[in-house]
Amino acid sequence: MNPLPDLEEVAHEHLLMHFTRNGAFGPGRQPVVVLERGEGPYVFDTHGNRYFDALSALFCSQLGYSYGEEVVSAAAAQMARLPFATTWSMAHPTAVALADRLSQLAPPGLGHVFFTSGGAESVESAWKLARLYHNATGGEHRTKAIARRIAYHGASLGALALTGVESYKAPFAPAAIQVRHVSPTNRFRLREDDRFGEAVHDDAEFSRLLLEEIEAVVLEEGPETIAMFIAEPVQNAGGCFVPPTGYWEGLRELADRYGFLLVADEVITAFGRLGEWFGSMRVGAHPDLITTAKGLTSAYAPMGAVFASDRVVGPLYEDPKRSLVHGITFGGHPLCAAISLKNLEIFERDGVFENVRTLEGHLQDRLRELLALSIVGDVRGCGFFWAVELVGEEGRRFDAEERERLLRGFLFGRLLRAGMIARPDDRGDSVVQVAPPLICTAEQLDEMVDGLAEVLTEAGELMNLEAKTAKGAA
Ligand SMILES: Cc1ncc(COP(=O)(O)O)c(C=O)c1O
Repeated sequence: MNPLPDLEEVAHEHLLMHFTRNGAFGPGRQPVVVLERGEGPYVFDTHGNRYFDALSALFCSQLGYSYGEEVVSAAAAQMARLPFATTWSMAHPTAVALADRLSQLAPPGLGHVFFTSGGAESVESAWKLARLYHNATGGEHRTKAIARRIAYHGASLGALALTGVESYKAPFAPAAIQVRHVSPTNRFRLREDDRFGEAVHDDAEFSRLLLEEIEAVVLEEGPETIAMFIAEPVQNAGGCFVPPTGYWEGLRELADRYGFLLVADEVITAFGRLGEWFGSMRVGAHPDLITTAKGLTSAYAPMGAVFASDRVVGPLYEDPKRSLVHGITFGGHPLCAAISLKNLEIFERDGVFENVRTLEGHLQDRLRELLALSIVGDVRGCGFFWAVELVGEEGRRFDAEERERLLRGFLFGRLLRAGMIARPDDRGDSVVQVAPPLICTAEQLDEMVDGLAEVLTEAGELMNLEAKTAKGAA
């Protein structure tokens, strides 16, 4: 008896897939891909089809899929000893050990760790820690935040308020937190952006304009009302926007001048995605709070963590009657903490981040070859975190109908047929994102880029784009 078709049908009947047009799947429509096994950077569906996981299961699986047995022995030992304990008014050895290890790895001064179950909880915990800090230091009126357009910070209501993707927010308005959104660091569309335009020639000038925009918002709202600014070291949504030189240094300066806290949302960029423990280290950021999840366990268990500075937690310690009025039952779960400790050990033992640093240049060179295709307008990113922006003639943005045809009508299914999981995305402009597991070899990265090249060549044909070389524009 072959149980496979049933699984797809049962999935369609009973499993509500997240951020998915659920009605597009099912009998007579698209089949649901049901993944049942993984190995290295590959996953296999119930029909035995192999896919290169070029998205690391949503930027999570730093280690890929072959460390399960080793991780499970750490998990089993923990479960046999103490399957569960909270971090509410007490502690357990594994959470203590993990907090201690993380504090050694964190950027200097960010050695206080608050555990959560995932990214959105980390973001909301950072918001509450910021509010508690301000409340304790005479900043009770600091009730607003600044974040960036198109950035994604999570789907729960507080994190959604910080998120800058209008279509995700509109059904749940009004927002739970008052947030102003400012420009992301999108160099590629700079010249078409009314706020910046032709005048910008270099990083210093771009940074200056971006920071001026933020300062204007702070002054408009009233500096005494701003609790925090949140941004990713490299912004994911919109397609791997790398900051211009001087941007994060300027953010630090603004935060200090106007008294708000600076939060680096590193749910994606921490734990090696950019070749360092934290993306902040790569981009010169000196935040007061860092939010993490995903790579903290390489997603072998669901866990997040917020890193807070001595300054932020100072008020929580100075008065024995002051409470950290925020908590999550599973924050610091022993199982997840044991898995995270093992994950961190493997990162170091197997030189996982060295692999990213060694192969980043190769990956960049190979991805930049895609610029020869007419449909590719830009290739940007760093580490193992890249976006390929798709464009019409002369860099034209695709309109809504074209994006529907290209991204959802063609690329989603065609990438799967090419044996690849990557992310066509148009929360900003049209991009395909790749963020492979950090254990990939050069040959595996080549396989990924070759697959992408094949699919994007066909995508160009679909959109009736002439080859760049034919127009002499390669
Ligand atoms: C930068 C960033 N912050 C927060 C989140 C929310 O994380 P989660 O889905 O674990 O709640 C995400 C998720 O992708 C993210 O990319």
